[in-house]
This record gives sequence, structure tokens and C-alpha cells, in this order.
Amino acid sequence: MEDLRRFSELLHGESIETLSKEAPAVAYEAFHSDWLFHHTERVVFWSQRLAEEKNLRGDSFHAVTFSAWVHDIGRTVDPERHAEIGAVWVEELLRSRGVPENIVSIAVDAVRNHGTSATPKTDTGHILRLADALAVCDPMFVGMYAPVLEEEDRKKVLKMVEKKWKVVEEYGREDLIDLRTTIRLLEG
Ligand SMILES: [Fe+2]
Repeated sequence: MEDLRRFSELLHGESIETLSKEAPAVAYEAFHSDWLFHHTERVVFWSQRLAEEKNLRGDSFHAVTFSAWVHDIGRTVDPERHAEIGAVWVEELLRSRGVPENIVSIAVDAVRNHGTSATPKTDTGHILRLADALAVCDPMFVGMYAPVLEEEDRKKVLKMVEKKWKVVEEYGREDLIDLRTTIRLLEG
């Protein structure tokens, strides 16, 4: 995992709580010049909101926050295999910091299975998978970029939104996003 070592060096924490507070630095280092940074922030927002709804507290809440901040970190190595690459990095990092094994496996499952066609094994995994989909469909995110996108790119984003909206429907959480606003922003 040579390519991701520079991100491990930004994190000094030895508990999931401290690591979750340091994790924005990883997202910033990886994506600050890129839409992926704003995407990640939005995933954190939705993950925390869903975690509060489920009454997750303490380390369970910090595991959600940490996983959300780093879920796309593998994209810096290979976008196609990013979920698996990120999961391996998370596992190595959290184990090396002495984080309890139950928390390690929750975070690893969440990062590994956040994609559209994945099946997470834990509540945390489902939270992250839904949060990732909500973040893509979110007018708060789309609105930042839609005005400056070329028509071809707007069509690509629209396709991505349609795909991720299926995940939102799968969880029955269409109540959380005003999809019409997002579509309007993209149709120009
Ligand atoms: Fe994502």
C-alpha cells in the first residue's frame, strides 16, 4: 500500500475518535483541488445525520465519521478498484493504531461496500452506502458545479445521479433529497 502511506502519516491518533477528527486532513490532501473533496464533505454530512437517526454513539459514531472521510481515498491509486484499495488501507491503519477489532471490521466493511452494487454487512456500511448516494444526488453538491459544467459533463453527472437515486429508493429515503431541484440544475 505504498501509495497511500503519505495519508497514514497525516494521522497520529490511536483511537477511532481521534482518528475521525484528524481524517479531514486526509480528504484535503487527497482531493482539495477536486470535486471529490466537496463530495466527501457531503458524504460525511449525510453519514452523521443517518448515524444520529440510528442513535449511534461513541466509537460507533466515530467509525461512521472516519469511514466517510476516507471512503474514496483509494481513488488516488485506482478509481476502478478504489473501494477495495481503501478498505485494505483502513484495515492496516486502524490495526496498527490498536483500534479494537470490532471497530476495524465495521470501518473496513463500510469502505469496501459503499458502492452502488455492493452489499454492506453492518448498519454502518448501509449508512455509508446510502450517504454516498445521497451526496451525489444532493442539490447542495450538484449546485456548486452544474453552472460551470459543459453540456456533455452535465449529462454524465445526470447519469450518475440516476444510478445513485436507485440506491436512495432501495433504502426508501427519497424524503431526504429534493431530486427535482437536482435535475433542474443539471438540465440547465
Ligand atoms: Fe463517494
